[in-house]
Amino acid sequence: MEVKLAKTAGFCFGVQRAVNTVYEQLEQKEDRIYTYGPIVHNEMVVRDLEEKGVQVLNSREELEKVTEGTVIIRAHGVGKEVYDLLERQGVNLVDATCPFVKKIHRIARREEQNGRHILIVGNAKHPEVEGIRGWCEKVSYVVESVEEAQNFTLPEGEKLCIVSQTTFNYNKFEDIVEIISKKGYDIIVLNTICSATEERQAEAREIASDVDAMIVIGGRHSSNTQKLFEICKKECENTYYIQSLDDLDLKTSQSIRCVGITAGASTPNKIIEEVQKHVRIKF
Ligand code: F3S
Repeated sequence: MEVKLAKTAGFCFGVQRAVNTVYEQLEQKEDRIYTYGPIVHNEMVVRDLEEKGVQVLNSREELEKVTEGTVIIRAHGVGKEVYDLLERQGVNLVDATCPFVKKIHRIARREEQNGRHILIVGNAKHPEVEGIRGWCEKVSYVVESVEEAQNFTLPEGEKLCIVSQTTFNYNKFEDIVEIISKKGYDIIVLNTICSATEERQAEAREIASDVDAMIVIGGRHSSNTQKLFEICKKECENTYYIQSLDDLDLKTSQSIRCVGITAGASTPNKIIEEVQKHVRIKF
């Protein structure tokens, strides 16, 4: 059985940096360590950190109750009011926001000062998008689909700056931008899709189009893994979405000669290795 493993599978730079930050803090600090939301959409990693004493704060209410220790902000980033809240509570903040996300926060601030409203192409419920909106002082907009782009209207005389959620699908972003561009508004467009995502998606598409079965590894709640799955499924009907080796139920038959493997940005190398070894040895 031939196995094609994507070179871009697994932790991206920003997630690796955030996970490393938590382990570093564990070594350096004696006091309590919290992460605001799971540091990565991977149950195994989160469990390991919990066993070492890191507590996940799952809601704003839980965050408000923290009065000592260190709160680590994950790669998705948060709005400005979270920084203000922790300062008021006298809690130490360690910022592991991915620099590419931080850049969007700065763009939002700058372009609002230049008189534009921010429109984010992305999922309004995703924490990264909520975080970006948390740096906007004016009304901001979120558009996720072609239909929403068609229905979008901007009040007369207002100007727009379009950015994207870092993990958004590039082709979909272009389609949405094209529709809004035709409406005649004064807009500037900044493609803030992270290259890690684009590269991972392009490589996944290429591999999936060339194999008999495709395995996509990643957390159930990881939106970038879900998108990878969508992309692969289009190219290869026989695509499996698994969280770890335990979920793999690869139906092998004579016709499967080549299996492709990719993984979302929150999948540790250890899991990818396990799946790869298993497929190589077993089939
Ligand atoms: Fe950052 Fe890109 Fe990863 S924005 S968190 S390096 S997907």
